Amino acid sequence: MPDMKILAIESSCDETAAAVLISFGTKISISSSVVASQIKLHAKTGGVVPEVAARAHIEHVLPVIKRALSEAGIALADIDAIAVTAGPGLITSLRVGVDTAQALAFALAIPLVAVNHIEAHLYSPFIHADAYALPAADSLFPAISLVVSGGHTDLSFIKNFLNHKKLGSTLDDAAGECFDKTAKLLGLPYPGGPALSKLAKLGKPVIPFPRPMLESGDFNFSFSGLKTAVLYFLRDHKLQAKDYKLRANIAASVQQAIIDVLVAKTVAAARKYKARTVLLGGGVAANHLLRDKLKAASAKLKARFLAAEAEYCTDNAAMIAFAGYLRIRGGDFTPRKNVRADAGWELK
Ligand code: KG4
Ligand code: ZN
Repeated sequence: MPDMKILAIESSCDETAAAVLISFGTKISISSSVVASQIKLHAKTGGVVPEVAARAHIEHVLPVIKRALSEAGIALADIDAIAVTAGPGLITSLRVGVDTAQALAFALAIPLVAVNHIEAHLYSPFIHADAYALPAADSLFPAISLVVSGGHTDLSFIKNFLNHKKLGSTLDDAAGECFDKTAKLLGLPYPGGPALSKLAKLGKPVIPFPRPMLESGDFNFSFSGLKTAVLYFLRDHKLQAKDYKLRANIAASVQQAIIDVLVAKTVAAARKYKARTVLLGGGVAANHLLRDKLKAASAKLKARFLAAEAEYCTDNAAMIAFAGYLRIRGGDFTPRKNVRADAGWELK
């Protein structure tokens, strides 16, 4: 593949992000990765209001692209291709990124690549800022990937780069959503995942919350019952503001229940498919306990464990650039005019 400079744009939910990936010879590097977070904006409402998110994306998208280019030390005219998140996500948010990417690709007369946001999370464990060569595929695959984000909990079998098949997913709430909703029940600020895991450090996982679908014999998940169990527990125990110890124990117990299920299912899949590697990506992959438990479980299976680096767990454009790079490497371009935002674009 010739040397390339790829600009990537991400706007599927509540982060406006842009990144530059440079490929040269057999090496690649993420030259910049800029994220304009809307956390403060959405903390006021305790969640993402789509209309508010879309307006913030419109405001931030061009400044974020400019910063990504300037941090990479290149001009817009130097870009060889653009990768953009086309779905899944909030349609009004996705459109801002897709429309911007399409306009730039037409103006510069360069290729445009539509990237699936979940596919980008799936391959995010392979991203590093400094120049590096990708490990040889036969040393990595077959692999099992767990993507845990605010909207998705997906287990996939990976035969090779961009050759993957979904084994199972959540039937209702995603793991991140379960963190967020139980955090809200405990009166913690948005986004709940980091707040709940911080509180969990002060408690012990002594409350026996259910481990949904642990014995289901398939690779699907269900987390809405766990949230309801917390709701009933709180109702029955009439939690007072000063009950900080109990609050911390609830946080630790919910976190443990979620992680037990995630790890058990991932291990079962890795064992069944004789995985050489276990991959972990998505916002919830930032959780240290989940990383530690899955790392230890993978070591027992003698599988390599690769988790996305902290800055590439939650939404970012570096992962969009990398997934775009894999598609470009495979000659898989989308005709510019055919790229559309697709809110319901599920990974197969
Ligand atoms: O991948 P992401 O940034 O956005 C989506 O594509 O959804 O994931 C966001 C999710 C939120 O539910 C957030 O609470 C969760 O990731 N999260 C965490 C942690 N950091 C972020 N969950 C548990 N522990 C964390 N440390
Ligand atoms: Zn995401």
